[in-house]
Amino acid sequence: MKFFADTADLNDIRELAAMGLLDGVTTNPSLVAKSGGDFKQTIAEICKIVDGPVSAEVVAMDVDGMLAEGRHLAKIASNVTIKVPMTWDGLKACRALTSEGTMVNVTLCFNANQALLAAKAGATFISPFIGRLDDIGLDGMDLIEEIREIYDNYDFETQILAASIRTVNHVKQSALAGADVATVPPATLKALVKHPLTDKGLEAFAADWAKTGQKIL
Ligand code: G3P
Repeated sequence: MKFFADTADLNDIRELAAMGLLDGVTTNPSLVAKSGGDFKQTIAEICKIVDGPVSAEVVAMDVDGMLAEGRHLAKIASNVTIKVPMTWDGLKACRALTSEGTMVNVTLCFNANQALLAAKAGATFISPFIGRLDDIGLDGMDLIEEIREIYDNYDFETQILAASIRTVNHVKQSALAGADVATVPPATLKALVKHPLTDKGLEAFAADWAKTGQKIL
């Protein structure tokens, strides 16, 4: 499974990329607002750090506006992936942009039929929002499993990009369900390393090493 960082924070992106952990980045208007930086400059900076797909979201609601914004953003770098909403106009924009050779991420997907439509429209990525389904009392992971089954049934090449990931368990479940990508907030990505028995074991090793009185360097 590929890891994307779900953030517009350049420092986090630099750190994760230097570790070789990042296969791409996703941003959205809320994350750009949180980072406080200029949108297009931020996307350009991220594309200098990360070779993989970098999602930049359009804000127009109509197909002509989405296409104008998408084509403009796509000029920033060859790895810019245009994020369009799961709407009728978004699907039209998806088809047009992918036909032009631009990668497209269809976002705000909340059911399997929407994912089917995105695949039919040629989407590069479909973004089912796991956490937001959990928020309303559903199980977001069921959606990943359904989309995986449907895409496999028909050999759709659209990649399942598990989004709205809130917990380390979401990451594991996405991997088990066969998501192609998980886009993960940096704090959650860093939390994947944690286990209490790792900490406890490390403490015991350190204590026993101290008893030896030895030094490595
Ligand atoms: O990738 C979409 C993601 O940023 C949404 O996450 O936590 O706002 O539902 P969240």
